[in-house]
Amino acid sequence: MNFWHAIAAAALAATAPALLAGEIPTDARRSGYTFMGPDTRAMQDDDTANPGMLFVLDGEALWAKKTGSAEKACADCHGDAATSMKGVAARYPAFEKALARPVTLDQRINLCRANHQQATLLPYESRDLLALSAFVAHQSRGITITAGDDPQLKPFVAQGHDLFMRREGQLNLACTNCHDDNFDKRLAGAPITQAQPTGYPLYRLEWQTLGSLERRLRSCMTGVRAQAYDYGTPELVALELYLMSRTRGLPMEAPAVRP
Ligand code: HEC
Ligand code: HEC
Repeated sequence: MNFWHAIAAAALAATAPALLAGEIPTDARRSGYTFMGPDTRAMQDDDTANPGMLFVLDGEALWAKKTGSAEKACADCHGDAATSMKGVAARYPAFEKALARPVTLDQRINLCRANHQQATLLPYESRDLLALSAFVAHQSRGITITAGDDPQLKPFVAQGHDLFMRREGQLNLACTNCHDDNFDKRLAGAPITQAQPTGYPLYRLEWQTLGSLERRLRSCMTGVRAQAYDYGTPELVALELYLMSRTRGLPMEAPAVRP
């Protein structure tokens, strides 16, 4: 993979004069949307062309369906998602008191399945879990991201930040080397973005399906030839939390489309 090696070489060459690699200032934060070509933007903007909307429709049906031995639907407790779920995804991952740690939206939905519906857990990246999280996240479209504001999350945001800055894998690259230091550069024709997770779960053309933020992070880890954390591990949740707190101030776009 020439592309990743080229970045590795660029990042190593850039270590000598040690420009202070800082966080991207709030007013310079840009969604991956702004890096895309007009065709992919149009696909995201038009609900009839955005393949992610099919998952949202599936999620809407699941929301109303009685499930598990409790025979309860999400709607039986939460009512109209347009009001009860508005803004919820914009502050996830959120601190879960009972577990004393942050949980992702996917994990929160599975907590409701287990505790409130007495239903089986939905596997990560399964169609039903993606559909439900797309439906819930869609209720926050246009709402400003505020994840990480809860003071109880502080140590977990810090853990995610450490992971973001740590070099890893055979290519010895940290997330920050590409997404803070080299965004806007084009290598092998593909733009590197700031890694602002505004639109998850999103439809990725390369995947030909909807996928979670965790799936995206795992492919970046594999890209630098590092061992990717498993779905739902504290490390992956901390990284997700840091990224969402890093993107505060930008509006939610779920379900977005990305190349
Ligand atoms: C029997 C009632 C019940 C059912 C059914 C239920 N939930 Fe919940 N849900 C709750 C309660 C109560 C909470 C608050 C946290 C807690 O006490 O578990 C909650 C919390 C949530 C939250 C977090 C809201 C926030 O503000 O952070 C989400 C998202 C959610 N539920 C989604 C769902 C989805 C999706 C389903 C269906 C798959 C579902 N719930 C089914 C009762 C329910
Ligand atoms: C060698 C460079 C490189 C490294 C290192 C890297 N990535 Fe990426 N990442 C990419 C490329 C290329 C893409 C696809 C285009 C884009 O969105 O930047 C991407 C995409 C992303 C996206 C999706 C952005 C969107 O708009 O949906 C996120 C989030 C992300 N990376 C996070 C990370 C994290 C976290 C790490 C560290 C574990 C990491 N990346 C390491 C190159 C890299």
